Amino acid sequence: MILEWRKEVLHLLQQTSTTTKAVVAAAVAVLIIRWMTKKQYKLPPGPRPLPLLGNILELRGVSILDKLDEWKQKYGPIVTCYMGPRMFIVLNDFESMNEAYVKQGSDFSSRPMLYSMEVISDGFKDIALAPYGEVWKYQRKITSLALRQYLMGDQLENRVHETLQPIIESLKKHIESFTDSIILAQQQALQEDDPTVATVFTDDHAKQILADVFSAGLDASRQTLDWLLLVLVAYPDTQRKMQEEIDRVVGKAVPGKEHKAKLVYTEAVLLETMRLYYVAPIGLPHETMRDTTVGGYEVPAKVTVLTNSMAMMRDPKLWSDPLHFIPERFIGSNEDGSGSTIVSRHVGWAPFSIGHRTCIGESVAKLELVFIVAGLLQKLSFSYAPQGEQKVPNMKHSTKGVTFLPEPYYIKVSSRGN
Ligand code: HEM
Repeated sequence: MILEWRKEVLHLLQQTSTTTKAVVAAAVAVLIIRWMTKKQYKLPPGPRPLPLLGNILELRGVSILDKLDEWKQKYGPIVTCYMGPRMFIVLNDFESMNEAYVKQGSDFSSRPMLYSMEVISDGFKDIALAPYGEVWKYQRKITSLALRQYLMGDQLENRVHETLQPIIESLKKHIESFTDSIILAQQQALQEDDPTVATVFTDDHAKQILADVFSAGLDASRQTLDWLLLVLVAYPDTQRKMQEEIDRVVGKAVPGKEHKAKLVYTEAVLLETMRLYYVAPIGLPHETMRDTTVGGYEVPAKVTVLTNSMAMMRDPKLWSDPLHFIPERFIGSNEDGSGSTIVSRHVGWAPFSIGHRTCIGESVAKLELVFIVAGLLQKLSFSYAPQGEQKVPNMKHSTKGVTFLPEPYYIKVSSRGN
């Protein structure tokens, strides 16, 4: 009886192992066929990835910016790396960024549809995280229109003036007036009688756009202002020159659009601050929409693309003395020789990015920051807090995840007595 039972079990085991062998063999055959027929891409070079983990272990305990710089030195301006099994392409110089985001903009302008991004944006109903497509195009168009309307009036300068003290209050008021503009734009769009509008611009879409503008947009502006204040104390001569210009151009008036073109030095300080102390050093991720190329390499569809913008804006090939704070590099002469003007499109200056996905808040952010800093310097002076009592401001970077922010600092603010 027992003998019979053992025979039965052995037979079963033999059968099972034959079946298992067959399944394993079939799986291996499928993998080999897949591997043999898989398109072989001539990818940009990069560090060797581990199975499943990719290059993630190399990022332990180091800042992502330092690692990207190290890979750039080792492998060149375009690098392939892997975060887990996901492939990333990193563009480290302006030439490759321009080729990908501008010349090949229709291949490189989607966003990776990550689960976390889907949750934050309530199913990609915003602009910044939405994949390339009709809905994104529509939201961008309507929001740009609302921003233009907002800029045309005098709301921006009034708000900055009214509420510079405290600045936080000012930002809250921006929110209210821009919220009005976006609701107005939505109402106007709905009156267009276009049935698709109702589906691509629902209340949820409007909510997500407002979240884009007021969380990401205003955070970036506020963080830039943090660096600007630090620049004022670290470079007292720069601060004095700005005050001279503001006194001469604005006097006791409220800083407004009519002054902007003449606040050349003040704007140059803003552009140089954004170059050297750039708050979003790797921008927002892009995703390729089809198989494409950059820098003579092949890049498959659905690959995440990052820019090492900090490296671009400190690239010695594009900037003389790149690690020094020199606002004058953004000042040129008027064509008729009648004075100086801002060189706003310096090759390699791309804190708002370039191409189809470029930041839609660039004009608002620049205007707002010039008004804020002019309004502050009209009345106040900034210096280091007394040694020993307060922490000395630290111009060294502190990278929090993917943002580049100053260490917390204390400064002394004095009234100019006017
Ligand atoms: C100093 C301030 C700012 C900086 C440095 C900044 C920078 C950026 C960058 C790097 C991107 C990603 C571009 C890309 O993916 O290639 C971006 C996107 C965006 N920004 Fe800004 N931004 C600023 C202020 C603002 C403001 C004030 C607003 C709104 C009024 C705004 C609205 C947006 C939106 C909606 C996008 C997404 C565009 C898209 O995906 O199509 N930003 N910004």
